[in-house]
Amino acid sequence: MLVSAKEMLTKAKAGKYAVGQFNINNLEWTKAILLTAQELNSPVILGVSEGAGKYMCGYKTVVGMVNGMIDELGITVPVALHLDHGSYEGAKACIEAGFSSVMFDGSHYPIEENIAKTKELVEYCDKLGLSLEAEVGAIGGEEDGVVGNGEVADPNECKMIADLGVTMLAAGIGNIHGKYPENWAGLSFDTLAEIQKLTGTMPLVLHGGTGIPAEMIKKAISLGVSKINVNTECQLAFAAATREYVEAGKDQQGKGFDPRKLLAPGFEAIKATVKEKMELFGSINKA
Ligand code: 13P
Repeated sequence: MLVSAKEMLTKAKAGKYAVGQFNINNLEWTKAILLTAQELNSPVILGVSEGAGKYMCGYKTVVGMVNGMIDELGITVPVALHLDHGSYEGAKACIEAGFSSVMFDGSHYPIEENIAKTKELVEYCDKLGLSLEAEVGAIGGEEDGVVGNGEVADPNECKMIADLGVTMLAAGIGNIHGKYPENWAGLSFDTLAEIQKLTGTMPLVLHGGTGIPAEMIKKAISLGVSKINVNTECQLAFAAATREYVEAGKDQQGKGFDPRKLLAPGFEAIKATVKEKMELFGSINKA
Protein backbone atom coordinates (compact mmCIF):
# COMPACT_ATOMS: atom_id res chain seq x y z
CA MET A 1 0.00 0.00 0.00
CA LEU A 2 1.21 3.48 -0.83
CA VAL A 3 1.95 5.76 2.12
CA SER A 4 2.27 9.50 2.58
CA ALA A 5 5.88 10.71 2.77
CA LYS A 6 5.29 12.38 6.12
CA GLU A 7 6.34 9.64 8.50
CA MET A 8 9.41 8.52 6.53
CA LEU A 9 10.64 12.12 6.25
CA THR A 10 9.99 12.99 9.89
CA LYS A 11 12.07 9.95 10.83
CA ALA A 12 14.78 10.90 8.33
CA LYS A 13 15.01 14.44 9.66
CA ALA A 14 15.31 13.17 13.25
CA GLY A 15 17.79 10.45 12.26
CA LYS A 16 19.94 12.73 10.07
CA TYR A 17 19.65 10.81 6.83
CA ALA A 18 17.71 11.42 3.62
CA VAL A 19 15.13 9.44 1.65
CA GLY A 20 15.70 9.36 -2.10
CA GLN A 21 13.06 10.41 -4.59
CA PHE A 22 13.76 8.56 -7.81
CA ASN A 23 11.77 9.63 -10.86
CA ILE A 24 10.09 6.91 -12.90
CA ASN A 25 9.49 6.70 -16.65
CA ASN A 26 8.13 3.24 -17.30
CA LEU A 27 7.78 -0.29 -15.97
CA GLU A 28 11.52 -1.08 -15.93
CA TRP A 29 12.30 2.09 -13.94
CA THR A 30 9.58 1.45 -11.39
CA LYS A 31 10.44 -2.21 -10.92
CA ALA A 32 14.18 -1.47 -10.56
CA ILE A 33 13.61 1.20 -7.90
CA LEU A 34 11.04 -0.78 -5.90
CA LEU A 35 13.15 -3.96 -5.88
CA THR A 36 16.27 -2.08 -4.80
CA ALA A 37 14.41 -0.36 -1.96
CA GLN A 38 13.05 -3.72 -0.80
CA GLU A 39 16.46 -5.45 -1.03
CA LEU A 40 18.07 -2.67 0.99
CA ASN A 41 15.16 -2.27 3.41
CA SER A 42 14.93 1.43 2.59
CA PRO A 43 11.93 3.75 2.38
CA VAL A 44 11.55 5.25 -1.09
CA ILE A 45 9.68 7.97 -2.97
CA LEU A 46 8.74 7.43 -6.61
CA GLY A 47 8.69 10.77 -8.42
CA VAL A 48 6.48 11.42 -11.46
CA SER A 49 6.74 14.68 -13.37
CA GLU A 50 3.68 15.85 -15.29
CA GLY A 51 5.51 15.02 -18.53
CA ALA A 52 6.37 11.51 -17.36
CA GLY A 53 2.78 11.05 -16.21
CA LYS A 54 1.55 11.94 -19.67
CA TYR A 55 4.16 9.64 -21.26
CA MET A 56 2.92 6.72 -19.13
CA CYS A 57 -0.65 7.35 -20.44
CA GLY A 58 -1.86 9.34 -17.43
CA TYR A 59 -1.88 9.29 -13.64
CA LYS A 60 -4.37 6.43 -13.31
CA THR A 61 -2.08 4.13 -15.30
CA VAL A 62 0.82 5.11 -13.02
CA VAL A 63 -1.19 4.44 -9.86
CA GLY A 64 -2.38 1.10 -11.23
CA MET A 65 1.13 0.01 -12.21
CA VAL A 66 2.73 1.03 -8.92
CA ASN A 67 0.01 -0.49 -6.73
CA GLY A 68 0.10 -3.69 -8.76
CA MET A 69 3.87 -3.97 -8.42
CA ILE A 70 3.85 -3.33 -4.69
CA ASP A 71 1.41 -6.19 -4.34
CA GLU A 72 2.88 -8.65 -6.82
CA LEU A 73 6.55 -8.03 -5.98
CA GLY A 74 5.79 -8.26 -2.25
CA ILE A 75 7.12 -4.78 -1.47
CA THR A 76 6.78 -4.10 2.27
CA VAL A 77 9.06 -1.04 2.69
CA PRO A 78 7.28 2.35 2.80
CA VAL A 79 6.65 3.67 -0.73
CA ALA A 80 5.24 7.11 -1.54
CA LEU A 81 4.03 7.93 -5.06
CA HIS A 82 4.73 11.62 -5.50
CA LEU A 83 3.98 14.20 -8.18
CA ASP A 84 7.19 16.10 -8.99
CA HIS A 85 6.97 19.86 -9.76
CA GLY A 86 3.21 19.81 -10.09
CA SER A 87 0.97 22.61 -11.21
CA TYR A 88 -2.08 23.36 -9.07
CA GLU A 89 -4.32 21.43 -11.48
CA GLY A 90 -1.80 18.60 -11.81
CA ALA A 91 -1.67 18.20 -8.02
CA LYS A 92 -5.44 17.90 -7.84
CA ALA A 93 -5.52 15.39 -10.71
CA CYS A 94 -2.88 13.20 -9.02
CA ILE A 95 -4.72 13.28 -5.72
CA GLU A 96 -7.89 12.14 -7.48
CA ALA A 97 -6.00 9.37 -9.30
CA GLY A 98 -4.61 7.94 -6.04
CA PHE A 99 -1.12 9.41 -5.54
CA SER A 100 -0.06 9.45 -1.88
CA SER A 101 2.00 12.64 -2.10
CA VAL A 102 2.19 15.72 -4.33
CA MET A 103 4.47 18.65 -4.94
CA PHE A 104 2.95 21.97 -5.79
CA ASP A 105 5.67 24.08 -7.39
CA GLY A 106 4.49 27.66 -7.09
CA SER A 107 8.05 29.02 -7.11
CA HIS A 108 7.47 30.91 -10.38
CA TYR A 109 4.50 32.83 -8.92
CA PRO A 110 4.87 35.98 -6.85
CA ILE A 111 5.21 34.86 -3.21
CA GLU A 112 1.65 35.97 -2.30
CA GLU A 113 0.19 33.75 -5.01
CA ASN A 114 2.48 30.85 -4.10
CA ILE A 115 1.25 31.19 -0.50
CA ALA A 116 -2.44 31.35 -1.45
CA LYS A 117 -2.33 28.30 -3.74
CA THR A 118 -0.11 26.28 -1.39
CA LYS A 119 -2.47 27.04 1.49
CA GLU A 120 -5.47 25.66 -0.39
CA LEU A 121 -3.59 22.47 -1.18
CA VAL A 122 -2.44 22.09 2.44
CA GLU A 123 -6.09 21.92 3.51
CA TYR A 124 -6.95 19.52 0.70
CA CYS A 125 -4.03 17.16 1.44
CA ASP A 126 -4.53 17.31 5.21
CA LYS A 127 -8.10 16.11 4.86
CA LEU A 128 -6.95 13.09 2.86
CA GLY A 129 -3.79 12.34 4.87
CA LEU A 130 -1.46 13.01 1.93
CA SER A 131 1.92 14.72 2.04
CA LEU A 132 2.53 18.01 0.25
CA GLU A 133 5.84 19.49 -0.92
CA ALA A 134 6.07 23.19 -1.67
CA GLU A 135 8.88 25.15 -3.32
CA VAL A 136 10.48 28.52 -2.84
CA GLY A 137 13.17 29.76 -5.22
CA ALA A 138 13.12 28.06 -8.62
CA ILE A 139 15.50 25.15 -9.17
CA GLY A 140 17.65 25.85 -12.22
CA GLY A 141 18.28 23.70 -15.24
CA GLU A 142 15.73 22.23 -17.56
CA GLU A 143 12.93 19.88 -16.64
CA ASP A 144 10.07 19.16 -19.01
CA GLY A 145 10.93 22.28 -20.95
CA VAL A 146 10.83 24.51 -17.87
CA VAL A 147 14.12 26.33 -17.42
CA GLY A 148 15.08 28.03 -14.15
CA ASN A 149 18.24 29.87 -13.16
CA GLY A 150 19.41 28.10 -9.99
CA GLU A 151 17.94 30.74 -7.68
CA VAL A 152 18.82 31.00 -4.04
CA ALA A 153 15.62 31.17 -1.97
CA ASP A 154 14.82 33.92 0.51
CA PRO A 155 14.83 32.19 3.95
CA ASN A 156 12.01 34.42 5.21
CA GLU A 157 9.81 33.36 2.30
CA CYS A 158 10.70 29.75 3.10
CA LYS A 159 9.46 30.28 6.64
CA MET A 160 6.19 31.78 5.37
CA ILE A 161 5.52 28.72 3.21
CA ALA A 162 6.67 26.27 5.90
CA ASP A 163 4.29 27.88 8.40
CA LEU A 164 1.34 27.01 6.14
CA GLY A 165 1.73 23.42 7.30
CA VAL A 166 3.29 21.77 4.25
CA THR A 167 4.96 18.39 4.86
CA MET A 168 8.30 19.20 3.22
CA LEU A 169 9.89 22.20 1.62
CA ALA A 170 12.09 22.48 -1.45
CA ALA A 171 14.26 25.57 -1.44
CA GLY A 172 16.59 26.67 -4.19
CA ILE A 173 20.15 26.83 -2.85
CA GLY A 174 21.98 27.07 -6.17
CA ASN A 175 21.06 23.51 -7.20
CA ILE A 176 19.96 22.73 -10.73
CA HIS A 177 18.36 19.83 -12.57
CA GLY A 178 20.47 17.76 -14.92
CA LYS A 179 24.27 17.82 -15.22
CA TYR A 180 26.09 20.63 -13.40
CA PRO A 181 28.15 22.97 -15.57
CA GLU A 182 31.95 23.09 -15.10
CA ASN A 183 31.77 26.54 -13.53
CA TRP A 184 28.97 25.69 -11.05
CA ALA A 185 29.35 27.69 -7.83
CA GLY A 186 28.19 24.80 -5.61
CA LEU A 187 25.41 24.74 -3.02
CA SER A 188 24.83 27.75 -0.81
CA PHE A 189 25.22 26.19 2.63
CA ASP A 190 24.83 29.54 4.40
CA THR A 191 21.35 29.85 2.88
CA LEU A 192 20.52 26.25 3.79
CA ALA A 193 21.63 26.81 7.40
CA GLU A 194 19.52 29.96 7.60
CA ILE A 195 16.45 28.17 6.17
CA GLN A 196 16.93 25.28 8.58
CA LYS A 197 17.20 27.69 11.52
CA LEU A 198 13.92 29.38 10.58
CA THR A 199 11.94 26.26 9.66
CA GLY A 200 13.01 23.98 12.54
CA THR A 201 11.88 20.39 12.12
CA MET A 202 10.49 20.84 8.59
CA PRO A 203 12.10 18.23 6.28
CA LEU A 204 13.97 20.12 3.55
CA VAL A 205 14.19 18.82 -0.02
CA LEU A 206 17.21 18.97 -2.28
CA HIS A 207 16.33 18.80 -5.97
CA GLY A 208 18.87 18.19 -8.72
CA GLY A 209 20.60 15.31 -6.91
CA THR A 210 22.45 14.22 -10.07
CA GLY A 211 26.12 15.12 -9.99
CA ILE A 212 26.28 16.80 -6.57
CA PRO A 213 29.56 15.63 -4.99
CA ALA A 214 29.17 13.18 -2.07
CA GLU A 215 30.68 15.58 0.46
CA MET A 216 28.14 18.27 -0.45
CA ILE A 217 25.29 15.76 -0.14
CA LYS A 218 26.49 14.78 3.33
CA LYS A 219 26.82 18.38 4.42
CA ALA A 220 23.33 19.18 3.10
CA ILE A 221 21.90 16.26 5.10
CA SER A 222 23.66 17.51 8.23
CA LEU A 223 21.93 20.88 7.64
CA GLY A 224 18.41 19.45 7.53
CA VAL A 225 17.93 18.00 4.05
CA SER A 226 15.85 14.82 4.41
CA LYS A 227 14.66 14.19 0.84
CA ILE A 228 16.93 14.20 -2.21
CA ASN A 229 15.61 13.97 -5.77
CA VAL A 230 17.48 12.00 -8.41
CA ASN A 231 16.35 11.72 -12.00
CA THR A 232 18.99 12.38 -14.67
CA GLU A 233 21.55 10.02 -13.12
CA CYS A 234 19.30 6.98 -13.61
CA GLN A 235 18.64 8.09 -17.20
CA LEU A 236 22.38 8.40 -17.92
CA ALA A 237 23.09 4.99 -16.36
CA PHE A 238 20.27 3.36 -18.32
CA ALA A 239 21.39 4.93 -21.60
CA ALA A 240 25.06 4.01 -21.12
CA ALA A 241 24.29 0.36 -20.32
CA THR A 242 21.88 0.07 -23.26
CA ARG A 243 24.43 1.67 -25.59
CA GLU A 244 27.11 -0.79 -24.48
CA TYR A 245 24.78 -3.75 -25.16
CA VAL A 246 23.89 -2.52 -28.64
CA GLU A 247 27.42 -1.45 -29.56
CA ALA A 248 28.68 -4.90 -28.57
CA GLY A 249 26.21 -6.27 -31.15
CA LYS A 250 24.37 -8.30 -28.52
CA ASP A 251 20.95 -7.41 -29.90
CA GLN A 252 21.97 -9.25 -33.06
CA GLN A 253 23.09 -12.43 -31.34
CA GLY A 254 20.47 -15.15 -30.79
CA LYS A 255 17.36 -13.65 -29.27
CA GLY A 256 19.26 -10.62 -28.01
CA PHE A 257 16.60 -8.40 -29.59
CA ASP A 258 13.99 -9.61 -27.07
CA PRO A 259 13.08 -6.50 -25.07
CA ARG A 260 13.47 -8.47 -21.86
CA LYS A 261 17.12 -8.99 -22.82
CA LEU A 262 17.70 -5.66 -24.56
CA LEU A 263 16.49 -3.64 -21.56
CA ALA A 264 18.07 -5.83 -18.88
CA PRO A 265 21.47 -4.05 -18.69
CA GLY A 266 19.74 -0.68 -18.35
CA PHE A 267 17.48 -2.10 -15.65
CA GLU A 268 20.51 -3.38 -13.71
CA ALA A 269 22.24 -0.01 -14.16
CA ILE A 270 19.27 1.79 -12.57
CA LYS A 271 19.37 -0.66 -9.66
CA ALA A 272 23.09 0.01 -9.12
CA THR A 273 22.56 3.79 -9.25
CA VAL A 274 19.69 3.67 -6.76
CA LYS A 275 21.76 1.47 -4.43
CA GLU A 276 24.69 3.87 -4.57
CA LYS A 277 22.40 6.80 -3.72
CA MET A 278 20.66 4.98 -0.87
CA GLU A 279 24.09 4.19 0.62
CA LEU A 280 25.15 7.82 0.32
CA PHE A 281 21.86 9.17 1.70
CA GLY A 282 21.96 6.76 4.67
CA SER A 283 18.44 5.34 4.15
CA ILE A 284 19.44 1.65 4.11
CA ASN A 285 17.70 -0.39 6.83
CA LYS A 286 15.53 2.60 7.77
CA ALA A 287 12.28 1.12 6.43
P1 13P B 1 18.24 15.57 -11.47
O1 13P B 1 17.62 15.20 -12.77
O2 13P B 1 19.28 16.62 -11.62
O3 13P B 1 18.72 14.40 -10.70
O4 13P B 1 17.08 16.26 -10.61
C1 13P B 1 15.97 15.53 -10.22
C2 13P B 1 14.94 16.38 -9.57
O5 13P B 1 15.24 17.30 -8.84
C3 13P B 1 13.53 16.06 -9.80
O6 13P B 1 12.69 17.00 -9.24
